[in-house]
Parts: sequence; structure tokens; C-alpha cells
Amino acid sequence: MPYLTTLEPLETDQWFVESPELSEFVATAKEIIASTRDDYTETLNTLEPYFAALLKKQHWLPENFAQPNPDSGLGGGIGQWLLYRSQERNLTIFSLVIPPNSTTPVHDHLSWGLVGLYKGQQEETVYRRLDNAETEGFADLEVVGSYHVKRGDIYRLSPPDGDIHSVKATTVFAPSISIHVMSNDTGSILRNQYHPEQRSSKSFRSGYSNLPYRN
Ligand SMILES: [Fe+2]
Repeated sequence: MPYLTTLEPLETDQWFVESPELSEFVATAKEIIASTRDDYTETLNTLEPYFAALLKKQHWLPENFAQPNPDSGLGGGIGQWLLYRSQERNLTIFSLVIPPNSTTPVHDHLSWGLVGLYKGQQEETVYRRLDNAETEGFADLEVVGSYHVKRGDIYRLSPPDGDIHSVKATTVFAPSISIHVMSNDTGSILRNQYHPEQRSSKSFRSGYSNLPYRN
């Protein structure tokens, strides 16, 4: 698919959380990605049940990866904590921690992915691009739909039409936490934020809350 990152490979796989559950999932995901390389829909179909099983286990995510972040690259105090990324940056797993009533910007990911709710509730609003993306800074979006997402639910990201969204935490007292399984190094690449009312876009790099900016 045409949305691969052009970042250099890392020196090695990077682990930020020690967890047998996460290690087992990563090993399985790597096997699935390798055996379904030509068909990412098959990758997602095969991977999803294993991801659902990981989400059901509620003790493997350390507390410091379940916190908001006042210096968020996404704004709104949203924590984006890197849990694992592969040497080739073709498998990245991070938690996204959205404080109550906070909302992400409208953004894309430029990668297939699975997003699963680990804790709390969210409302996801999905957008579709109507223009041909050839004019710098211009983007004409329409809303495809809004979806209530609760603990254990999984949704897919798939460019180009299923890749642009915003996410609001609808939990009142505690942050909502989603786990992202992505096929690029989402926090490190340049991607896009959108202002649908102004029909504008700008590139940005979200970074990760537990890594130096732009690392
Ligand atoms: Fe997102």
C-alpha cells in the first residue's frame, strides 16, 4: 500500500513496557504481518482476535503509560505513550490517553491500524476527504459518521478513506485509554491535522510522550 513511512530503520526493536502479554502479542503480530504482507485487509482480519484478547487482559499496561500529558503533541493534555516499535518501524504500539471531555484534533495516520478501547469510552468522528489533496494547506472534508466506542471495542484505520478522524473522551471522571497497533511509526512521521470548517490542513508530528520530541 502507498502509505509507508520513509524513516530510517532503528538499530533494534524498542520495548518500553515489560509485559509477557504484550510480548506474546507482538510475536504473533509479526508472524501475521510477515505471512499476509500483500494483503493488509487479511492482516487486520487475522490480527484482530489476538488484539481483542490482549484488550481483555486489564493488568499489563503500567500506570505511567495510562496518564495524560500536559505537554502533549496532540494538545488537550492527551498522552501518547510508546509501548513498542519494531526495528523496521512497520509495527508500532502505543497508548492514547485522553482526559475527560478532551478531544483530539482531526488528524490522519497514513497507515493501517487497529485501535481498541482499553478503558473508558470515546466518541469517534470519521471524515472523508473530498478534494484530491493536491493543493498545499487545503482540505475539503465531510463527516462519514460518529461512533460510540466502549471498552473492548476495536475499530480500524485504513487509508485513504478510513484514516481521518477525531476522538473525544466521553468518560466523565477518568481518562479514556485506547491502544493503537499501527504499521508505521505514527508518532515520528509527518502527518496531517485538519480544520474542516476552514477547509485547511497542516502537517504535524505528534511525537511520543515518553520520548524526546522528534526522536
Ligand atoms: Fe487517531
